[in-house]
Amino acid sequence: MSNDIDKTGFGITEYHNTQEIYRELKNLITTPARGLKPAELKSYLTNYFESKCKKSKAEFEKASKIIPGGVQHNQAFSYPFPLTITKAKGAHLVDIDGNEYIDFLAGGGTTLLGSSPDIVNEKAKEVIDNCGPCTCLHHEYETLLAQFIVDKFPGIDKVRLLGSGTEAGMGAIRLARVHTKKKNIIKLGAGFHGWSDQVSYAQRIAGIGGLECHGIPRAVYKHTQEVYPNDVKAMERMLKRNRYRGGTAAVIIEPMGPESGTRPLDYDYPAKVRALCDKYGALLIFDEVVTGFRIAMGGAQEYFGVTPDITTLGKVIAGGYPAAGALGGKKEVMESLAGGIGGKKGKKAHVGGTLAANPLSSMAGYVTLKEIERTNACEVAGKLGDRLTKGLKQLIQKYNLPFVAYNQASMVHLETVGTVLFDINLFKFWELPGKIKEIHKRKDIMTHMGAAYMAEGLVTVGGSRMFTTAAMNNEIIDDALTRFERVFMKVEGV
Ligand SMILES: Cc1ncc(COP(=O)(O)O)c(C=O)c1O
Repeated sequence: MSNDIDKTGFGITEYHNTQEIYRELKNLITTPARGLKPAELKSYLTNYFESKCKKSKAEFEKASKIIPGGVQHNQAFSYPFPLTITKAKGAHLVDIDGNEYIDFLAGGGTTLLGSSPDIVNEKAKEVIDNCGPCTCLHHEYETLLAQFIVDKFPGIDKVRLLGSGTEAGMGAIRLARVHTKKKNIIKLGAGFHGWSDQVSYAQRIAGIGGLECHGIPRAVYKHTQEVYPNDVKAMERMLKRNRYRGGTAAVIIEPMGPESGTRPLDYDYPAKVRALCDKYGALLIFDEVVTGFRIAMGGAQEYFGVTPDITTLGKVIAGGYPAAGALGGKKEVMESLAGGIGGKKGKKAHVGGTLAANPLSSMAGYVTLKEIERTNACEVAGKLGDRLTKGLKQLIQKYNLPFVAYNQASMVHLETVGTVLFDINLFKFWELPGKIKEIHKRKDIMTHMGAAYMAEGLVTVGGSRMFTTAAMNNEIIDDALTRFERVFMKVEGV
């Protein structure tokens, strides 16, 4: 292992040049998309997926008969069919056909230490032997985990453990409304805060509003509003307008930008939003489901020095185990949360769940977070993210490709088609059908790139994002770059 680690305390060594990234992304979407040469794609499909992934294919065919879409989680789907994984250890995955992969999906961002660390496995056996995974009564690991979170997060005096990041977001919104007695919630366009009804508004694509809210009555998201990322003036206009329309209970943002920083934010944006929330009496919610215990032990809020009123957490805080969700905040805000049924005085927000804070996930979270701190895992994984990004940029330059690579610590983005910048409001309504067709074409190209990465032994997040983990090292990253290069060499025009 040859990582040369400077302990900085943060996963980010240098904040990206946000304007430069947007310039590159704009260039990407205004030039014709370039994907794999058709013959190369065909070769990957025939010589890899059809020949070397036969058991995965058979498993997918079986699953498709009884599972909608053949997978239970959208991140598990990949073109031409999802792989069935039988082993996950450290930085690597092995599929049912025995093929090995470098794991940049990292449990959907849950395993900053890499898969299945022995230190957590040992303790898991102990907890299961002693009391099983659930008693629905208090366990001391709950207090240990809660104390750890409170000690690290500047914006958290008290914490409620929940079942998922989605639940944390739902609870945060309810809590903000009870506490402020105001109605509206402002989110950033394209922001993903889980799959609950109210935040499904303006999700994934900026400006889309309620167009993708299938199965959700309009009244349910009536008080969710959208503002474009980085547009401070629009945020103030919305806050001002809301003063006469029920007020703003909260502004919810991912502090690194929507979709784990895919739409990056200006460095001073979170601070500006904090100031606006104070001016208009709204609470500020940071969704740190992805950035918590990744950007720094105190999350992105520690990095930016901006303290939100409520923080939502998930993923890493259960170390890859189920029931990964938490909602924390300032004491005076958290007092509006009901403990059990009822609570003391006044109106209380009810949140909870049978398996929330079970002994197994509380232990996994506590032991994982202690290990992340002990091994400087945020910095280690962040430096590896820098190395991967730097290498990708060099390859992009070497092959004169329009692709864009950037990262925030261990969250690495590789945009090959730029659909991320698609923005409904940029087009006249009669241009939309053509644009939507183009987006579908571009998405197909990205999916094919994802398949090529997979065939070269790289599991990515949907072919456009990678999580580096502390189980990786420089050699693994350099090996991954060689594999990326093999794909880049097969792109049209190279
Ligand atoms: C920023 C963000 N918030 C919330 C969620 C929802 O978390 P969960 O999948 O645990 O419900 C996610 C999931 O990917 C996320 O990325």
